[in-house]
Amino acid sequence: MTDPNPAVQPGDPSGQDEPAAEAELAELTPAELEAEALLEAAAALDGADVGRRKFFRQFAGELFQSAATVVGAAQVLQRVSAEAAGALLDPDSVATTGRVDPPAPPTGFRTPFREEPGHLYILDQRKLPDAVEEYDAKSAAECAYAIREMIVRGAPAIGQVAALGLALTAQKLITTRPYARRATLRGAANALRNSRPTAVNLGWAVDRSMAAYAAVGDLSEDGVAIAAAMRAEADAIVFEATEDHGRLARFGLDVLPRPEDGPVRVLTHCNTGPLACGQFGTALGVIQAAHHDERPIHVWVDETRPYLQGARLTAWELAQAGVPHTLLPDVAAGHLISRGEVDAIIVGADRIAANGDTANKVGTYTLAVLAARHGVPFYIAAPMSSVDLATKTGDAIPIEERKPNEVLFVRGVRIAPPNTDVRNPSFDVTPAELITGIITDEGVLAKPYKRSLAKAMKARDTRRAAAPSFAALATGTDG
Ligand code: MRU
Repeated sequence: MTDPNPAVQPGDPSGQDEPAAEAELAELTPAELEAEALLEAAAALDGADVGRRKFFRQFAGELFQSAATVVGAAQVLQRVSAEAAGALLDPDSVATTGRVDPPAPPTGFRTPFREEPGHLYILDQRKLPDAVEEYDAKSAAECAYAIREMIVRGAPAIGQVAALGLALTAQKLITTRPYARRATLRGAANALRNSRPTAVNLGWAVDRSMAAYAAVGDLSEDGVAIAAAMRAEADAIVFEATEDHGRLARFGLDVLPRPEDGPVRVLTHCNTGPLACGQFGTALGVIQAAHHDERPIHVWVDETRPYLQGARLTAWELAQAGVPHTLLPDVAAGHLISRGEVDAIIVGADRIAANGDTANKVGTYTLAVLAARHGVPFYIAAPMSSVDLATKTGDAIPIEERKPNEVLFVRGVRIAPPNTDVRNPSFDVTPAELITGIITDEGVLAKPYKRSLAKAMKARDTRRAAAPSFAALATGTDG
């Protein structure tokens, strides 16, 4: 039997260089870009106490780090964002010294990908925490491979990688004939959609990118316009995720219990940090915000067999951020919950149906039943981009079944006799009635979720329609 985590790097020699894009990006007006978004970040701050101000200053720094990564002018934006953040949050410091300390380095988290013209360097999460290696994706096809093989994983992150992959391929097809371009892009979109079935963010991001293509005209001769439109849509998806997850974290803080006699003890399952989300985590984003808010917190980290996202990725991210945590075998959660050692459970989501039934990493349903049995609050933390109103209930959510080898091997070591029969469902569904609340970028939603999810989706669409688009922010134009 072969090791399920081989160090595979399929090559694609035909990557195209993009000097034009670089020159264009260098003309951006950083001050206009962040003035808009800082106002957005600061708006979220009014009345917040010192801990939150410190946290959101770092978040603001990271927001512009991500924007800088997207628009390619990191150092300039970071220095100017530090000044603008300081001016907004601490006018005195600027008045007296004029010098503002650079924002603290990102809170120990690594983003799942970084870009250079024609390249999407994806952090190979199969190799973490032992090795930090990157997979060099230059096309949608390679992004589909990276998603299928879980080089990158986590619902929001795979959506972003899919959109960036389509933008890379569209860039390569600038001079290609319209019919050939359409066939290639449609083929690439299907390959991405079929790379993993459960996370709704994947199809959602592909649909947005292909809609941007169709808006230019899928038989248009103008390859430059098509590539630019798909690029702008991918940037918007990445940028919006950072904002939405930041909002979600803030709302999540409001429901986190405040025990008098010690740290709040939060149990989490799988990995929902920046590695899974782009810039800012969801369930782990709430935990990150509490830590920065200097609220005493201790995290129980489920190892999350068979792929060990908890042991390998969540423990790694929490260690770097200095958040107190303890790793436990998934099967030990019931014991801790029954002994009153867990104050709340917060997990992510791959797809939330219209009635609130939620698909997440396998093992989540078990935790929800235990939480209900012992009266422990059980929260789902997920952006509205993970809500699928077209899927009425959890029964209709496709559940991925993955390779037996992921169960038969642990880090390359066989743990069961050869030819042992295996079931490896990667997700399960938690019925809405077992969910205490759904923490989103539109607030913490309560039952009945059919109504609160529909209302929140409208609110999100209204907010998005009112907010300056990323393309407008990037070019400093209205609209
Ligand atoms: O198989 P994975 O690692 O992609 O599963 C990820 C999860 O189940 C996460 O909890 C979910 O995608 C939310 S990530 C914010």
